[in-house]
Amino acid sequence: MKLTGNTIFITGGGSGIGRGLAEALHKRGNAIIISGRRKGHLEEVCKANPGMSYVELDVEDTKSIASAAEKLIKDHPKLNVLINNAGIMQADDVAGVVEDALIVSTITTNLMGPMRMTSALIEHLKAQESSYVINVTSGLAFIPLAMAAVYSSTKAAMHSYSQSLRYKLRGTSVKCLELAPPWVKTELMGDNDDPRQMPLDEFIAETMQVLESDNHEILTERAKMLRNNAGPNEAAFVDQFNDMLAAPAKEGALSH
Ligand SMILES: NC(=O)c1ccc[n+]([C@@H]2O[C@H](COP(=O)([O-])OP(=O)(O)OC[C@H]3O[C@@H](n4cnc5c(N)ncnc54)[C@H](OP(=O)(O)O)[C@@H]3O)[C@@H](O)[C@H]2O)c1
Repeated sequence: MKLTGNTIFITGGGSGIGRGLAEALHKRGNAIIISGRRKGHLEEVCKANPGMSYVELDVEDTKSIASAAEKLIKDHPKLNVLINNAGIMQADDVAGVVEDALIVSTITTNLMGPMRMTSALIEHLKAQESSYVINVTSGLAFIPLAMAAVYSSTKAAMHSYSQSLRYKLRGTSVKCLELAPPWVKTELMGDNDDPRQMPLDEFIAETMQVLESDNHEILTERAKMLRNNAGPNEAAFVDQFNDMLAAPAKEGALSH
């Protein structure tokens, strides 16, 4: 992907990976519009990065998606990149009763949100000379983390959806990329100092390099171990991975 001269809309750009991508892409000469629910975060990021703008958005709310899409198309007619990054992750225990609110909010945000956002912008993207839908999934799309089973399922579903989208968009000006991060230090599951997390700045730097390639899947080295392990030995690997993450961190242990 050409990393300059685009007009890029990022959901969840007020923190974490979304903010990191927004700032790196802003520095590379792209027009950036970030979005999310917490206006204070959006204002702070835009203040720190003159020229960046924001749209308030709740991807759980269909009306909010429709009004954000309308505003984007009106105010940014050259919009050619959608990054579906907004997401939530909560621990669950699927061997017991799981709160319905967790199931509904996780699936609505992580799966229905990107599907609806893509649907709201796809005709606009197809009318551009060259455009992209970039779906932020996870290494957990390929190997589930059993203590976040609902979350892992949404990411596996987003991997499937991204493949269908890519196939259906062949022959159009729109490409679909899947960005599957490993475990990165953000506030996704609250503040946490586990040393197995990849520092955010290292993740963004490596991701920017891979984004510049022609790869459909944007994988840092740390994410490849999960991506490459599906196959006949998947069940044993799922057990090994979950046993390892349930244990305290050891020097050099794997991360997702
Ligand atoms: N960190 C990791 O280890 C990791 C690994 C693999 C994949 N990922 C994925 O990376 C993406 C970004 O996560 P992160 O780690 O950067 O965590 P984060 O800092 O918590 O970022 C999540 C962002 O999503 C936004 N968001 C959440 N619900 C939303 C909603 N209903 N409407 C609009 N925006 C919403 C949040 O903004 P508001 O709260 O202001 O709305 C926030 O800016 C997620 O899709 C996550 O699943 C993260």
